[in-house]
Amino acid sequence: MPKSFHSLFIPGPTNLPHRLRLAMDIPLEDQRAPDFPEFTLPLFRDLKRVFKTRTGEVFLFPASGTGGWEAAMTNTLSPGDKVLASVFGQFSHLWADLCRRHGLDVDAVEVPWGDGVPLAIYRQRLEADKAHDIKAVLVCHNETATGVTSDVAGVRRTLDDLGHPALLMVDGVSSIASIDFRMEEWGVDLAITGSQKGFMLPAGLAIVAASRKAIEATRSAKCPRCFFDFADMMKQNRDGYFPYTPATTLLRGLRASLDMLLEEGLDNVFARHHRIAEGVRRAVSGWGLELCARGPEWYSDTVSAIMVPEGFDSDQLIRHAYDKYCFSLGLGLSKVKGKVFRIGHLGWFSDLMVLQALSGCEMAMRDMGYPVEAGSGVAVAQEFYRGAAPEPAIVREAAE
Ligand SMILES: Cc1ncc(COP(=O)(O)O)c(C=O)c1O
Repeated sequence: MPKSFHSLFIPGPTNLPHRLRLAMDIPLEDQRAPDFPEFTLPLFRDLKRVFKTRTGEVFLFPASGTGGWEAAMTNTLSPGDKVLASVFGQFSHLWADLCRRHGLDVDAVEVPWGDGVPLAIYRQRLEADKAHDIKAVLVCHNETATGVTSDVAGVRRTLDDLGHPALLMVDGVSSIASIDFRMEEWGVDLAITGSQKGFMLPAGLAIVAASRKAIEATRSAKCPRCFFDFADMMKQNRDGYFPYTPATTLLRGLRASLDMLLEEGLDNVFARHHRIAEGVRRAVSGWGLELCARGPEWYSDTVSAIMVPEGFDSDQLIRHAYDKYCFSLGLGLSKVKGKVFRIGHLGWFSDLMVLQALSGCEMAMRDMGYPVEAGSGVAVAQEFYRGAAPEPAIVREAAE
């Protein structure tokens, strides 16, 4: 099959809408032009609407999500500062690792992969920290490796109940602009994402939002920083400019992305992601398989990590799907290598697009001898998308 037919069902980069592709098919421009701020200032304003912050600052760095982590940590913390984190997948692991490499003192609670942020353990740790040595609490909102969404508001409630002043930092790389995220209401101090997931763009922008409290913390933070310095950015951003060359083409794409998100309406975007994900979950049950997420309270509406049966290797399945049917699925990473395949269903995605993914998975699994009946997943999802099967009540309880 020619490469041009290739279909992308990975959890980022996601599919690039035609409208965004066209918005970026433009001549390069002068980032110091007198009218450049007429374009950039509304970008910051509309990003705040997506993060749901009125009082925070939004930063745009030419980087990926990893750069966003680095910006958040180095601007607000000092070497030796204590950080409370939890590890339940490859991305929560990498974030904790980045913190250690910056000289932070990381208490990384190990959690079974398939669960998410352990609210009860966070409460114990924070309660025991009478001296308030813990300066930041980390939440990987959506662990892309396992398809697990955690309860950010629950962590805020825990901090507030205990009167603990730590900064609340959220990795929203595979959640923001796809599933419900409320920076100000949830008291999030730093929220990090990238351009290549919910914003439907190529990789290349790290998007970081900081609360007033986080901006205040930059004054005493001693971690070395230059490229990611919030202060340099703020000085220039105020007038619509940047301290170094911004990724102007991606910024033009971001304009179109924000227009698409706001025209659809964020609540409709979230509802679309939920409906699509629910169809995938039903297909997985139809196949007789299980998700890596260990209960409905953890289900992710942006990515499903599907466990393969004993004796099968998901790497081989993904390779077969790539070679024979010309589509990409997400690999199992680290601890779940060979054990899961992931369908990314975020960004520019419709019911029919996900049916294509489910159909491809079903064919590939049958080719590989999986005990999966033809149509057993696809038909269930079709019926759900037709509206013939009822919506379940959304289960998202505090996981204490
Ligand atoms: C939850 C999460 N955090 C962080 C990252 C790292 O982002 P990037 O690859 O853009 O550096 C990813 C990448 O997929 C992710 O899914």
